[in-house]
Amino acid sequence: MYGNTNLTEEEAKRMNSVQEDPQKLAEFEDRIARGEKIEPGDWMPSEYRKQLIRMIEQHAHSEIVGALPEGTWITRAPNFKRKLALIAKVQDEVGHGQLLYSAAETLGKTREEMLNDLLSGKSKYSNIFNYPAETWADIAVIGFLVDGAAIVNQTINSKGSYGPYCRALERICYEESFHLKQGHDNVVYLATGSKVQRDMLQAAINRWYRPLLHFFGPTDKQSAHSEKLMKWKVKLASNDDMRNQFLDMYVPKILELGITFPDPNLRKNADGVWEFSDPDWEEFKRVISGDGPCNAERIAVRKYAEEAGRWVRQALLNPTEKYTVPLA
Ligand code: COA
Repeated sequence: MYGNTNLTEEEAKRMNSVQEDPQKLAEFEDRIARGEKIEPGDWMPSEYRKQLIRMIEQHAHSEIVGALPEGTWITRAPNFKRKLALIAKVQDEVGHGQLLYSAAETLGKTREEMLNDLLSGKSKYSNIFNYPAETWADIAVIGFLVDGAAIVNQTINSKGSYGPYCRALERICYEESFHLKQGHDNVVYLATGSKVQRDMLQAAINRWYRPLLHFFGPTDKQSAHSEKLMKWKVKLASNDDMRNQFLDMYVPKILELGITFPDPNLRKNADGVWEFSDPDWEEFKRVISGDGPCNAERIAVRKYAEEAGRWVRQALLNPTEKYTVPLA
């Protein structure tokens, strides 16, 4: 999946030293234009490498942090069937982090460096996982709409130019489709249940609406990296296009259940473009800079996991350790 070529930091630096060669750059861009995949040992401009590390690393962090709000509901799931499904989903999300860290490692940044950057606040992770899951309906909405939003983004990005990331995304998308079914089933169950259940679902939709609009990133005008990433086919759609595609797919599905969105201006215009009220981009900036409702708690939990799990990593990495081989 990853192309068997994990670069060390030294190797990555060495490869970057030829970055300014205009002929190599032209060949690289021709390959991208022809739709070829770039593999870890291939020449690539240092900016392409840097952008990929940033994006894949943020994505990996989002998976492992994203498991936290749902993880808190495993013990409180309303029945055994829901509990089993949620355990499997949370486990998948952590596995996605594993796949993505491995993909980012092929570019020359170690997993340890990435995790240290997460804990120190140097690397970002998705805004959406900094909000609390207050009720079981939040779990339903995360499963249906947050995973639905992730699928829109990831299906598009899986057609991109960097081989290891695309292959990881393809696999992730298969698993996310099951998450979506779990979320959809949960949402429909609540929407067709008692008044208390419907009210609970409506309140959850009201809470997640703005973070979901933020999920696809700032508007195209404000996006810092889109132009470069789209030129090199790392991103195959702009933030606004992905957001529009998501609204197109999911707004009707919620409305047909008799549930509404907390925005009187949400509508599709004659050109097929969704319009909505300003989703408060200042809130988005605060949340991605570490000042959201749950940022401190999320990082504290990750710090605890790193510290409490250190002995396991050390044991696994100890080359002199002798293991007992079971004979039966
Ligand atoms: N949450 C946190 N930060 C976000 C964000 C979000 N939803 N959307 C954008 N940002 C950050 C970017 O990381 C960037 O900050 P940085 O320069 O410090 O890294 C800044 O806002 C400007 O955004 P933009 O230039 O539009 O970033 P981008 O071109 O990387 O696009 C994504 C943002 C999320 C669309 C893109 O990174 C992406 O598709 N990522 C992979 C999928 C993913 O991570 N999904 C999340 C969990 S499933």
